[in-house]
Amino acid sequence: MSTNKNISIGLFGFGCVGQGLYDVLSNSQGLKASIDKICVKSKNKDRKVDMSFFTWDKNVILSEKKHDVIVELIDNADEAFAIVKEAIENGVSVVTANKKMLAENFETLYKLQEEHKVALIYEGSAGGSIPIIRNLEEYYDNELLTGIKGILNGTCNYILTRMELENKDYSEILKDAQAVGFAESDPWLDVAGFDTKYKLVLLTVHSFGIILKPDQVLNLGINTVSYDDILYAKRHGYRIKLIARAEKINDKVRVFVLPHFVPKDTDLYNTLYEYNAVEVEGAFSCKQTFTGKGAGAHPTGSAVLSDISALTYDYKYAYKKLKSLKNKFNGSYEALHLLDKDFTLKLYIRFKDKEELKELDIVDIEEEYKSAATNYIIANVKFNSLFNIYNKPENKLFVCVVE
Ligand SMILES: NC(=O)c1ccc[n+]([C@@H]2O[C@H](COP(=O)([O-])OP(=O)(O)OC[C@H]3O[C@@H](n4cnc5c(N)ncnc54)[C@H](OP(=O)(O)O)[C@@H]3O)[C@@H](O)[C@H]2O)c1
Repeated sequence: MSTNKNISIGLFGFGCVGQGLYDVLSNSQGLKASIDKICVKSKNKDRKVDMSFFTWDKNVILSEKKHDVIVELIDNADEAFAIVKEAIENGVSVVTANKKMLAENFETLYKLQEEHKVALIYEGSAGGSIPIIRNLEEYYDNELLTGIKGILNGTCNYILTRMELENKDYSEILKDAQAVGFAESDPWLDVAGFDTKYKLVLLTVHSFGIILKPDQVLNLGINTVSYDDILYAKRHGYRIKLIARAEKINDKVRVFVLPHFVPKDTDLYNTLYEYNAVEVEGAFSCKQTFTGKGAGAHPTGSAVLSDISALTYDYKYAYKKLKSLKNKFNGSYEALHLLDKDFTLKLYIRFKDKEELKELDIVDIEEEYKSAATNYIIANVKFNSLFNIYNKPENKLFVCVVE
């Protein structure tokens, strides 16, 4: 798009991030860009911008094709996919922050970009204001990355931090987090680790060039955590964090989202409240940690603005790792064969009744504790068997990685 003229933006969504982008753009010094049309859903909301900017018909923006960039910031992944697909097919570059939509449709969206020779960039979709995707893509271009580990969900980190610092139980803090806007009224996608997983799927593409489908990646969350677990961690010098991990072991990758006991004096331990952090480990660069606000109107709006700015110098993700890996399999980018699920993890598992453990393939138990209030084991467990309790709201076990 390399241009000196004013960039015209067609914006979808004027909620938290859409309004954040509007504010950030209004205060931006260098970038000549303006939001010319905004498509939203509801006709009955008060808007802080003149109503002449708004439309409720997506075709007003998509069919007229007079915008240089489409910025997609709506909260519905299926509708977002339809908008992004049509924009790309119209030959217009797109900026989005919609990790669920991206993770669920990654291969299709990658192919569409290649076919229509436009850019789809999405820095705000993982880590909010942290510039992690472009760093993985560009800075760690030739570096032999061995792994990434991150706290990628502000809601979970906020709940865990407050539970520990205020000595309170999960349900009490969750209610409070909902009241102050740090948790959704339906928190499942956040607290069960799905949101973190969508981000991890994107970071795995940019770290290792491997496209995985969300359903192939295990996530267990913090929805079953109790104050007893927090106390156990504290006594042993740990903090519980929901960690997204992707690491390379020979030619395969281990990719999963699980609560972890994180040791003191590490960047991840010291990442509190709604902050996010991503630790990147390379063969030569060693460990580097990127931290920042992982969500919110202005932090995410600033990442979106940076993407819009990048389009002015024709930036696109080069997907060099994806291309060089040649993980094409019968014409698709199916990469399940590169995912290692056959390993053992040392886990802390809190349970009520031993019956609850029967779904897990426990290799050996190193420690066992029973009391009237709580029971736990420290055990080596076959990773694959954790899928038996995955995405089951009825599961009551709290599972946490011990390292
Ligand atoms: N919130 C964050 O901190 C954050 C951080 C990183 C990424 N994200 C991602 O950014 C995206 C937006 O999140 P948000 O928090 O800004 O959501 P939000 O506050 O719920 O706002 C959603 C906006 O989308 C509009 N919308 C919904 N369906 C639409 C449709 N079919 N066509 C046009 N507009 C539609 C809504 O219209 P009405 O105004 O009429 O209701 C609203 O303006 C999501 O993908 C989210 O995952 C959010």
